[in-house]
Amino acid sequence: MVLEFDPAFIQAPEHRPKPAVNEAGGIPLIDLSPLYLLERHGGQPVAGLEVLVAQVEAACRDWGFFQVINHGVPPAVVERAWAASRGFFALPPEERRRVRRDEANPLGYYEAENTKNVRDWKEVFDFVVHEPAVIPSPGDAGGGGVDRLIELRNQWPKFPHGFREALVEYAEATEELAFKLLELISLTLSLPPKRLHGFFKDQTSFIRLNHYPPCPSPHLALGIGRHKDSGALTVLAQDDVGGLDVRRRSDGEWVRVKPIPNSFIINVGDIVQVWSNDKYESAEHRVSVNSERERFSMPFFFNPAHYVMVKPLAELVDEKNPANYEEYNWGEFFKTRLNGNFKKLDVENIQIYHFKKAK
Ligand code: OGA
Ligand code: NI
Repeated sequence: MVLEFDPAFIQAPEHRPKPAVNEAGGIPLIDLSPLYLLERHGGQPVAGLEVLVAQVEAACRDWGFFQVINHGVPPAVVERAWAASRGFFALPPEERRRVRRDEANPLGYYEAENTKNVRDWKEVFDFVVHEPAVIPSPGDAGGGGVDRLIELRNQWPKFPHGFREALVEYAEATEELAFKLLELISLTLSLPPKRLHGFFKDQTSFIRLNHYPPCPSPHLALGIGRHKDSGALTVLAQDDVGGLDVRRRSDGEWVRVKPIPNSFIINVGDIVQVWSNDKYESAEHRVSVNSERERFSMPFFFNPAHYVMVKPLAELVDEKNPANYEEYNWGEFFKTRLNGNFKKLDVENIQIYHFKKAK
């Protein structure tokens, strides 16, 4: 019997994964232990910090993507989060759908996301890291008019037991890491370490549990179509299956990110690209699927408050280096993205290059 493959999932030929993806890609691996030495020395300069800052700078500049080890998130916390995620996606579909997202609440379970108007081969569970998260109402058209604000609250499932506790603990630990990375990025831009922290008061960060079931036609579909993350940065845990591909800047090739135990993958998002006035670029990435093994991942999307106006940092622009972007409002951008991923659009979803100034 020939099973029909749902055309909604089929990628255009130029976007389909090639059977062999380069694994020797050289994505930077960075040891964060100097950060913890710094803490133990009460903030006094320690050997290794300068080297670390230089590594982060090179990784942000050349890749927009890197992996970190000795990051301070306890392995047991990550393990409990994996167990919660596996337990949730193993529930019967009707149980998962009890916490399904809808037009009123974009948080919870969802199995039908589109990236660039093609359906992704995945299902997700989203929750915000700080409740309530305030954003402009996704139902409103926006664009000049005054938006209503809504307060997003998490929809926690009753099962598996301990799901919420495990994920709240994971969120706290990864948020701490995200702030450390933000400090490092500030240092690489020759700014005071806490220069960017203020944008994250009232943050709209969220964590996504991704589940990619085995796919009967992995050569036609993608777990997530090619995209860039729109927030400031992403802290992602992946299991040992592999499938995350990054576009290498030097030659445009897709490179598979090799799973490394007890590591996180960090990627620069669109906001850091704008803040840095293109010193750093958010890297394009996607997820390939396979026909044998299901795959799990857990990204933490580190997002500022809805009212933040995103624009190149004043310290980094002057007459010789003018701002490359018009400012835009994060809440509006985020809301428009949420809508675009939820519905199929006739036009391209919002992108930061829409705010790029003509040269
Ligand atoms: C994402 C993403 C990668 C992965 O959710 O935005 O890029 O490995 N995920 O699941
Ligand atoms: Ni992504």
